[in-house]
Amino acid sequence: MSEFWNWWVILITVVNVLGCWALLYWTRRMKDSGDENETTGHVYDGIEEYNNPLPKWWLNMFNICLVFSVVYLILYPGLGNFAGVLGWTQQGQHAEEVADAKAIYAPLFAKYASVPIEELSKVKQATQMGKRIFVNTCFGCHGSDARGNKGYPDLTDKDWLYGKDAAALEQSILNGRSGMMPAYEEVFDAAQIDGLVQYVGQLSGNQVNEQQADIGKALYNQQCYVCHGVDGKGNVALGAPNLTDNIWLYGGSSTTIAETIRKGRNGIMPAHKEILGKEKSHLVAAYVYSLSDK
Ligand code: HEC
Ligand code: HEC
Repeated sequence: MSEFWNWWVILITVVNVLGCWALLYWTRRMKDSGDENETTGHVYDGIEEYNNPLPKWWLNMFNICLVFSVVYLILYPGLGNFAGVLGWTQQGQHAEEVADAKAIYAPLFAKYASVPIEELSKVKQATQMGKRIFVNTCFGCHGSDARGNKGYPDLTDKDWLYGKDAAALEQSILNGRSGMMPAYEEVFDAAQIDGLVQYVGQLSGNQVNEQQADIGKALYNQQCYVCHGVDGKGNVALGAPNLTDNIWLYGGSSTTIAETIRKGRNGIMPAHKEILGKEKSHLVAAYVYSLSDK
């Protein structure tokens, strides 16, 4: 606060406290004549107001409030830039709470950090801690139930872009992932893309136009097999999805598949090493592992 505002706040606060006290003093009794039946002179509809003192307890409550405010303003920040005698700050309180929480959780994090994910996924306390981290950090993209959304993989099924083993899972969380499906609108004409859509549908066992699918298959075996595999079962090293399981990251309708092939896709899973640190990432990995284990 600048010097001006500092004094401005102090002035308003002090004037207000003094003002309250003055008002109280002034109204505790209008005139002190000692006459019980004296009126203030206010009349309304024939009703007159007696000039009686405020009840003692009532007056004292106000006095206590005033004393409290003065003591408070001396101990805690409130008067402009004056920090208060106790030196209390919001940041200080927050830091204290964080330190307290650390003291409780740090030994737990450390204990679980050395337990392999496969084992940890069976420890209830660990997966509960992992779940809380998940709900705070991951749900925006993967959903609070981890079932994902268009472009954000379902983490509860048995279909894994990067493989189900615990190491791959932890890698995804710590270092992030970037799936690169190239765009083909410059490479293929509309008929060729239609053919590819039919063939991709056929891989998942859907009813398709056989003739078109044959055109697509030939193109697939030139261009797509490198990543999605000759059998269409994908490649976990590249995050290329399995195209034969009828589980879709972006959607399995002809329109969506055509869009995927024309425009390409680039799903990005952000790295969480810096955001969560290794120990929390380990716990959340155990939680995710436990989801599809059942
Ligand atoms: C360079 C490797 C690569 C090549 C080549 C490639 N893809 Fe892909 N494809 C991927 C990756 C990686 C993804 C996942 C994209 C993501 O994670 O955002 C993907 C996603 C897809 C999807 C979406 C699947 C879903 O579950 O929604 C379809 C469909 C697809 N590819 C079809 C094809 C076809 C057809 C071709 C050939 C014309 C092809 N891909 C060529 C790597 C490749
Ligand atoms: C900003 C959105 C976003 C956030 C936040 C996010 N993810 Fe992801 N995640 C993705 C996307 C997109 C992919 C798919 C990447 C691809 O297409 O290759 C993914 C992929 C993954 C995978 C790999 C799935 C597979 O099939 O192999 C795992 C595991 C995962 N995320 C776990 C997590 C966890 C745990 C968190 C929280 C700590 C998290 N994600 C936070 C967007 C996100």
